[in-house]
Amino acid sequence: MFEQITTEKTILKIINFNGWYDQKQILKNINMDMFKNKISAIIGPSGCGKTTLLRSINRINDEIPDYRASGEIIYDGKNIYDKDIDITMLRKKIGMVFQKPVPFPMSIYENVAFGLKIHGLKDKRRIDEIVRLALKRAALWDEVKDELNKPARNLSGGQQQRLCIARALAVDPEILLLDEPTSALDPIATQKIENLIEHLSEDYSIIIVTHNLAQATRISDYMYFMYQGELIEWGPTRNMVRNPKKQLTEDYLNGRIS
Ligand SMILES: Nc1ncnc2c1ncn2[C@@H]1O[C@H](COP(=O)(O)OP(=O)(O)O)[C@@H](O)[C@H]1O
Ligand SMILES: [Mg+2]
Repeated sequence: MFEQITTEKTILKIINFNGWYDQKQILKNINMDMFKNKISAIIGPSGCGKTTLLRSINRINDEIPDYRASGEIIYDGKNIYDKDIDITMLRKKIGMVFQKPVPFPMSIYENVAFGLKIHGLKDKRRIDEIVRLALKRAALWDEVKDELNKPARNLSGGQQQRLCIARALAVDPEILLLDEPTSALDPIATQKIENLIEHLSEDYSIIIVTHNLAQATRISDYMYFMYQGELIEWGPTRNMVRNPKKQLTEDYLNGRIS
């Protein structure tokens, strides 16, 4: 187990990280490593701070006026909370997909092309090519290739979520943050997204929040168990599921805490 941890390439290192909404401390001295081309699942009961931690990783939580963080998140050799960090660039490299699929009120094509235009790409043929590739990578191309100009809102929930994944992929991220991406989907759509996530981890590092323990066990390489704002335990999924070190982890895995 020790060897398995040390041979992975660290992509993200979270050090003494704390987060507050107003006066209320939500994240309590979090320390964890995450690894390149792995699926990392953050698990734990509702309200324990999973979403807050995930949204801290690309600093999207900065948009919440009452939110304040301390500590470090090291990505690409730098603390992303340093003053000289380019937030637009950070969010390009660390993309995010939310719990509810939220396509913009525009066509399928325009949804995927959206980020490219923000980043200043104008060459129509190049944009066409990237849109096609992103939709292919998100396993959606075959279903939508003949209706790229139709409104994205007409797609099914599962297709919308894959579209949101395509939109995130289009700007060429290195890390993908997924916040309960299947919680609003039926079992078949969920299965498709799970397969897609496993496939995507060949090219991207995936960090997924889920309160679906079975899902985390099925797809993740590493698990991080949070409870009331603290990281209780993390490690390779198989080890943690078979042989948790902490009583709290064992209780959660056995359904004694929900
Ligand atoms: N914008 C906010 N303002 C104040 N409190 C919040 C806000 N968002 C979340 N919280 C609180 O922070 C805690 C952690 O929430 P969250 O990170 O969403 O947990 P989880 O994703 O594990 O369910 C909860 O107590 C929640 O009520
Ligand atoms: Mg959440």
